[in-house]
Amino acid sequence: MLDLLIRGANLPDGRRDLDIAVAGGRIVEVAPGIEGETAREIDAAGCLVTPPFVDSHFHLDSTLSLGQPRINASGTLLEGIQLWSELKPHLTVESVKDRARELCHWAIARGTLAIRSHVDVCDERLVGVEALIELREEMKPWIDIQLVAFPQDGLYRFPNAPDLLARALDKGVDVVGGIPHFERTMDDGARSVRTLCELAAERGLRVDMHCDETDDPMSRHVETLATETLRLGMEGRVAGSHLTSMHSMDSYYVSKLIPLMAEAGLHAVPNPLINIVLQGRHDGYPKRRGMTRVRELMAAGVNVSFGHDCVMDPWYSLGTHDMLEVAAMALHVGQMTAQAEMPLMFDAVTTHAARTLGLEGYGVEEGCHADLVILQAADPIAALRLKPARLFVIRRGAVIAETGMVRSRLRLAGEELEIDFTRDETS
Ligand code: FE2
Repeated sequence: MLDLLIRGANLPDGRRDLDIAVAGGRIVEVAPGIEGETAREIDAAGCLVTPPFVDSHFHLDSTLSLGQPRINASGTLLEGIQLWSELKPHLTVESVKDRARELCHWAIARGTLAIRSHVDVCDERLVGVEALIELREEMKPWIDIQLVAFPQDGLYRFPNAPDLLARALDKGVDVVGGIPHFERTMDDGARSVRTLCELAAERGLRVDMHCDETDDPMSRHVETLATETLRLGMEGRVAGSHLTSMHSMDSYYVSKLIPLMAEAGLHAVPNPLINIVLQGRHDGYPKRRGMTRVRELMAAGVNVSFGHDCVMDPWYSLGTHDMLEVAAMALHVGQMTAQAEMPLMFDAVTTHAARTLGLEGYGVEEGCHADLVILQAADPIAALRLKPARLFVIRRGAVIAETGMVRSRLRLAGEELEIDFTRDETS
């Protein structure tokens, strides 16, 4: 007896009209015309059935705090950091949990079932750490939360940060973070990368640093991050987030840097919505876009996944936590418009992001977790164009979120017609 049978699914890799059978929380078969009794059947009717979206870079501790204590007037990264430091002393475990929980609800409704969230450890009380560790447990049945110990105010700039970071890891934070470009000097930044990578290697943890989130082409900490990854044998376990300085770097230098990143198996995690908003703020015209070199990194074999980074917080006032909005922004900013390139933007918020997090049992294959999203679109390119309704969000074989088909009814010249913006794609 099956728990769930999905009929007529299109898959992200282009396979069409397949059935997906689920039992015991796992996918047990993917094939055309599956027979067998089932507790529930869903007719996907040519809609795209994808493994869930994965957000590989977010901040659950600051999310939905917009306006507390005030709005970021300049719109810059640095005023955002200042504003967050004003709010920090007023945080409580319950207030952080409430905001983060609401964001998780939004994420689930949008079909995102895994989030890597940085959590600020530059706080003697470690309020965010305590709140998000509790929330990680509370939300476990529905969404995977992976936490990164993030020294927002600098490992060497903030008093006692190394000790606070170690305490956060002792409490059960999963990943070692960093912010080398925010240390006082380039030397301090490089030293922080070395120290933090060694700490992660000792503890057997992954690394994900905010790295070179600046327009300064001389901010080259990613070079140290890749080199330390190789020295410590941590290939495939280290991510560089943002990497916006690469947008402004000299291309000859980048022609040496990208192969080094590929050799180190570094994951690159741009945050397109936030990069396009925060970078280039000091430019006149032409104004830099700030997003890292997505096409060139992908071509070199570097795993590139995207993060939402912020929703309604000191750095970004907008957003509903829609990873398709993130992918569509990357597509536009990076001019990834070729037919072969567009699906890669979808991969960057699904399979590539799962690889960055190191998720087990992810995918639409026999044996994978039955975590699936049915979209009101036929394929990944249509999904990027439409940012369609997530009709069903399925976790371990159970439907945990539903949204009705979105259609508009027009009344023109006495006639009524219904449209959903699809073109020979979905029913
Ligand atoms: Fe971030």
